Order: sequence, then structure tokens, then C-alpha cells
Amino acid sequence: MKSIILAGGSGSRLYPLTQVASKQLQAVYDKPMIYYPLTVLMAAGVREVCLISTAGDLPRFQQLLGDGSLWGINIDYREQSRPEGIAQSFLIADDFIADDSVVLMLGDNIFSGGDNFPSAMQQFEQGAAIFAYHVKDPERYGVVEFDRFGNALSLEEKPERPRSSYAVPGIYIYDNQVVNIARNLTPSRRGELEITDVNLEYLRRGNLKVHRLSRGFVWLDAGTSSALQEASSYIETIERRQGVKIGCPEEAALVRGFITLDQFETLVAKMPDCEYRSYLTIVAAETRGLEGLRA
Ligand code: TTP
Repeated sequence: MKSIILAGGSGSRLYPLTQVASKQLQAVYDKPMIYYPLTVLMAAGVREVCLISTAGDLPRFQQLLGDGSLWGINIDYREQSRPEGIAQSFLIADDFIADDSVVLMLGDNIFSGGDNFPSAMQQFEQGAAIFAYHVKDPERYGVVEFDRFGNALSLEEKPERPRSSYAVPGIYIYDNQVVNIARNLTPSRRGELEITDVNLEYLRRGNLKVHRLSRGFVWLDAGTSSALQEASSYIETIERRQGVKIGCPEEAALVRGFITLDQFETLVAKMPDCEYRSYLTIVAAETRGLEGLRA
């Protein structure tokens, strides 16, 4: 399965922060925001990533992530010249998707907990799979309504009167039909190719699966200054309590076997002396210990 991280947009709600770097390069506690969605994909076993951003920000993403080879993945870069909608990403990345299925992630969505995504990706065969998460303010999102059997009945983008409290988070899995569906979309009143219209087309075809995320699962979006601050506090609280990091691509690469322990240690040795390096040093030692147990 291929993957796209959409990390463009205007980030107007984070002005003036976004004058110098895009929203997805801002810090969420101890790492750039983009590490979090990228790690979710890697932890689910995805190794082919296409990162879409603006012309101004692409060089900064390339500087941070390179071609992904140090983490055992491949990162391609594509430009979105104007923020003309989330669904435009399938048109920008059509040659990258080729004849594969694809998972799209928004670069400012932060998830933590559970194996919902890896198992949905494993189960996925055809059609579309999206997720639903109970929120207090569904009117800010795409909203999904269920029948009493848990099947999706309706989908609405930012409805004034939401029919449920279930919002659709920024991770979507599609078969290869999505490219054609995106080609046939017309821009909405706000001038965007809407991801909700893609999902509605799959719903109309009877091919949309909606997985409800469990209560313990965490979904944060970091689009405003307060949300960014809250996301940072949340990550800090969990990391300090547990002594494990959320959104650490090096660790995901090691755990998934994308890189060997030797390669991991070489990566860590090149890092400056910092808390991030200390953490990865502990991960390496613990992994060696486990290997010792298995030997
Ligand atoms: P939004 O948060 O809806 O928009 P934004 O990032 O432009 O921010 P603001 O509303 O403050 O101006 O976008 C959600 C995510 O999707 C975010 O990661 C940016 C990305 N995005 C694009 O990359 N291109 C687009 O055309 C759109 C609409 C969003």
C-alpha cells in the first residue's frame, strides 16, 4: 500500500508561526509535527510515502526527512501550488499511486494508542475505509451518521446541525478507484476538492467501511495555537509518565524491521547529545537485551 501525507495548506490560524515554517513543521512538544503522522504510517508497515506540500516548504521537509532511506523507507515529494482541497492530493500523486491502493494522512493529525490503523490496513481489500471518533464539536469536521447496525448512513462536511457526534479524522484508506473519483469531482463552494465528496461517492457505491475508534484512542488536531499547545502538553504528559515516545520514526523503523539494530545505533551515534538521543540509546539497549533473551 502506498501512502500520502498532505502537509501543505495555508496554516492561517497559526499566523505568525506559519510565516517561517508550515504548520506541520511546528513543534509538538519535542518533535516536528510531521513525525507523528509519519510514524503512524511506518508503525502500520507502510514504506512508500509521498509528501505533498507547498513550494516554499518542500525544501524544509526534504532537509528534515531526506529520501527516507536512513529509516528504511522511501519518501517522494510533490508540490501543491495552491490549497485547492485535500482530495487534490490524488491528482498530484497519481503517478506515485500508480495501480496501488493508498492511505492518505493529514500532516497535522496526531494519533496515539491502539492498533486500529494497522489492523484496518491489513483487513483492507477494496473500496474505502475511514474512521469515526466521538468529539464534542463535530460541526468542525466531516460528520458520519450510523444506523443501528453500525453502518454509515450519511456523511456531511462541517454541518451546521450535525447528525451525530462522530467526526472523521484525517486518515483515509482507498483502493485505486480513488484517482478516477478525484478526477471527476467538482470544487465545492469554498473552491476545494473535498475529501468528504470522495467518501460520499464510495458510500453511494456501497463500498465505504467506517471503523469506529475506541474511547481510549487519542486523536488531536493541532490547527490552532491552543490546540497546538494542548497537543504538546498531552504528548509531554504521556512521554514523561511512560518513558516511551510517541511519534518517533527511528523507533518505528527498528520495531518494524525496516532497519537493523546496527543501522539504528549508527543513526543514534550521529545525533547531538540531547534527550531524544538518550531515549533512543535506551531503546537500543532494551532491544539488545531482548535479542539476548531470544539468543
Ligand atoms: P486545514 O487545517 O483545514 O487548513 P490549513 O492547514 O490551510 O489551516 P488554516 O485553516 O489555519 O488556514 O487543513 C488540514 C490539513 O490538510 C493540513 O495538514 C493542511 C492540509 N491541506 C493541504 O495540504 N492542502 C489543502 O489544499 C488543504 C485544504 C489542506
